[in-house]
Amino acid sequence: MKELLQQLREAALKAILNADDAELEALRVRYLGKKGELTAILRQMGKLSAEERPAMGQLANQLRAEIEKAIDERRGELQKILLERKLERETLDVTLPGEKPKLGHKHPMYNVLDQIKDIFIGMGFEIVDGTEVELADYNFTKLNIDEGHPSREWTDTFYFTEDSRVLLRTQTSGMQIHAMETRKLPIRIIAPGRVYRKDEVDATHSPMFHQIEGMVIDKGVTMSDLKATLNLVVEKIYGEGTVTRFRPHHFPFTEPSCEMDIQCHKCGGKGCPTCKGEGWIEVLGAGMVHPKVLQGCGIDPDEYSGWAFGMGLERLAMGEYKINDLRLIFENDVRFLEQF
Ligand code: PHE
Repeated sequence: MKELLQQLREAALKAILNADDAELEALRVRYLGKKGELTAILRQMGKLSAEERPAMGQLANQLRAEIEKAIDERRGELQKILLERKLERETLDVTLPGEKPKLGHKHPMYNVLDQIKDIFIGMGFEIVDGTEVELADYNFTKLNIDEGHPSREWTDTFYFTEDSRVLLRTQTSGMQIHAMETRKLPIRIIAPGRVYRKDEVDATHSPMFHQIEGMVIDKGVTMSDLKATLNLVVEKIYGEGTVTRFRPHHFPFTEPSCEMDIQCHKCGGKGCPTCKGEGWIEVLGAGMVHPKVLQGCGIDPDEYSGWAFGMGLERLAMGEYKINDLRLIFENDVRFLEQF
């Protein structure tokens, strides 16, 4: 029996020394379990004489303790190896070059806006911000657009209230009124921002787009100041020598009113797809601020005069970057935006 225990000891310790984590548990069951090999040997204790029994029992207990210890040690060893491997894998080499974070950039249309802001700031203008939710008073009435005017129709304008008092502004021109009511004279401002109209989406229309309003109010301001200023701006955007043309037009809040075209920079006025064969591209609406509008804001039209303009920012950006579909500007497809 002593021999059997000895054999068991050698076999068990050898197996444990080379076992991995899963095998260890199997070995414990195999040697020390209820149906294990040690138990099997102990069952035969009955065959021993009463004198032999205690010594053999002690031996068996020692063996059990020894095997348990060996298993524990091996388990500890395996854990150490595992940890070492893990640390090896997770070594941080601080000398390696880092991964560059992907940087975005400004939307192309806002590049154009920044360019325009810079030009006007250089001429002493202030940039002012307005709200997109506006009162009909400011969007229409104080701009000399009376009730019943077609542009006030529900089919064109997004209203918030049944009484047509609160709306999404359809133009930035309301900023003229806000500026005149709140600022000291003289006034030189531009006011860029979103405007909203009930338009179907297509290559040149969107229910939301951007305008830039500009206005000057001072003593002795004339139409020639308006033309000189706008010519200068156009030359800065489209290049020196860009030819402009001012056509008579009508806006309720300016008198006289005009629209400004630039000669097509693509074909030089001969007519091409860019200018739709016209030779000219319409850029903005403008005019001398109507005396009624000045008066409504408490400014004496005999003492002060002013001019204003409003231009579409999307169209400007489309011209500058040769974008042929307005929808591209708003879809925010990274593959498109990445090109700028
Ligand atoms: N608000 C006008 C428009 O949306 C443009 C404009 C602004 C005309 C200022 C004259 C003066 O068409």
